[in-house]
Amino acid sequence: MLNGQTAIVTGGSRGIGAAIAKKLASLGANVAVVYAGNAELAEKVCEECREFGVKAQSYCCNVADFAATKELAAQVKADFGTVDILINNAGITRDNLIAMMTEQNFDEVIDTNLKGAFNMIRNCAGIFIRKRGGRIVNISSVSGIIGNPGQSNYSASKAGLIGLTKSVAKELASRGVTCNAVAPGFIDTDMTRSLKTDRDEIEKAIPLGRLGSAEDVAQTVAFLVQADYITGEVIRVDGGIAM
Ligand code: NAI
Repeated sequence: MLNGQTAIVTGGSRGIGAAIAKKLASLGANVAVVYAGNAELAEKVCEECREFGVKAQSYCCNVADFAATKELAAQVKADFGTVDILINNAGITRDNLIAMMTEQNFDEVIDTNLKGAFNMIRNCAGIFIRKRGGRIVNISSVSGIIGNPGQSNYSASKAGLIGLTKSVAKELASRGVTCNAVAPGFIDTDMTRSLKTDRDEIEKAIPLGRLGSAEDVAQTVAFLVQADYITGEVIRVDGGIAM
């Protein structure tokens, strides 16, 4: 159980992030739900978290903006007293074949998915180090492990997250802080609903025969934040597609 702990979940207003926020709340954690644009959705997630008897508050913050994440970490600490758990879930895609990918497509994806996680970890690290404890989980992707045509920017960002995870894990282990990554495969969210590939074809390629749910990912995140002796690990939640 996570009673009395405080979790920050970036991109918590929908999809996988919303499922993670609610899962952590169900285990007793207070939750800071960070969103980029949709205040109403974020507030709805907070309401659902509060039904578990925890404190939940939404924060508008672009994780790609270093100064904004610094302010965010300070504000959450002021509002909740501390930060125990950081889930770097915010992510975007700007898919295109490498021969056609624009510099902007590349930069936007790296800035949100990879630098966004750096920004959050950098600005929460001091809190974790001072209290000699903390749990960080970065949401990577199987694209970062096996690559995916049309996603060179996204794969690079998600592979980068794995390197970031392992270095941070090694650096902060002596302070009681763990840092792990989860690598989802095809999860049924807005992100995959916008894919052009046929859904039946995707399902055929997945050994377990179905897309994953946001809840499947949230379960693994909940496991990692409660694990005392696992750090620098990458867990695939992909129905076996990247075996
Ligand atoms: P989604 O598109 O439904 O949600 C993404 C969330 O991130 C939204 O709440 C959005 O507001 C937030 N966000 C985007 N840019 C942001 C920014 N600059 N600052 C703050 N928040 C920002 O996506 P989904 O599917 O829930 O994905 C969540 C994470 O899981 C992402 O990192 C994604 O790359 C990863 N993932 C998803 C997979 C899938 O099949 N859906 C597979 C593998 C990884």
